[in-house]
Amino acid sequence: MPRGKFVTFEGIEGAGKTTHLEHLCHYLDPCGFRYIVTREPGGTAFGREIRNILLDPLGPPRHPLGELLLYLADRIQDLNEVIRPTLAKGIHVLCDRYHDATRAYQGFARGISLELIDRLAEQLDILTPDLTIIFEVDVMQGLDRARNRNQQDKQETEGRFEREDYEFHRKVLEGYRVLAGKEPSRFRFINTGGKFDEAQHQVRNIMKSFLTS
Ligand code: TYD
Repeated sequence: MPRGKFVTFEGIEGAGKTTHLEHLCHYLDPCGFRYIVTREPGGTAFGREIRNILLDPLGPPRHPLGELLLYLADRIQDLNEVIRPTLAKGIHVLCDRYHDATRAYQGFARGISLELIDRLAEQLDILTPDLTIIFEVDVMQGLDRARNRNQQDKQETEGRFEREDYEFHRKVLEGYRVLAGKEPSRFRFINTGGKFDEAQHQVRNIMKSFLTS
């Protein structure tokens, strides 16, 4: 049986990644594709515990390397409990954030050496996705959206990463672009600064042709 395809979804805060992924599922379901959606951090029960620690905006300060190792712990669990077994059954896996987020956030934005992150990934046998879709939007526009969303959801505090300043998120976006430049065939960028439906149309086209190829 052919292995399923592994597709990851990335982007900066407020780029609309999670909403686009939900709408994509409404489209894929009636098409009959066999797939699951997971997310990082938090795709497994253990991962949800790690997620609570990682994203608690009121949590204690942490060393960037400790944070990196927690993201990797979450990923190892997700890979072994969910991603690899599902792909082996011939079912596609769509993952809401994955290792390129670690490279962009902990590497480019937090300043941990990319060489170290890549070396750890190799040693830990972190699977490379078959396709990575990056949702991009102007950094200020994205942060405004993320903050408005928090207000609408009546969240009293911003998420841990939404608290970071413009410069942090600019580095994240720049990081994604550099990573894509190194492996252009794996990445697709979708700009979500304009109409939602137009961006969603692009996601659907990319996914349909990729999953049927
Ligand atoms: P989440 O609520 O899933 O945010 P979003 O909807 O923007 O994806 O929170 C995930 C946060 O964790 C997000 O700010 C990015 C960050 N992150 C990292 O810093 N490193 C990682 O390896 C991953 C997977 C996420």
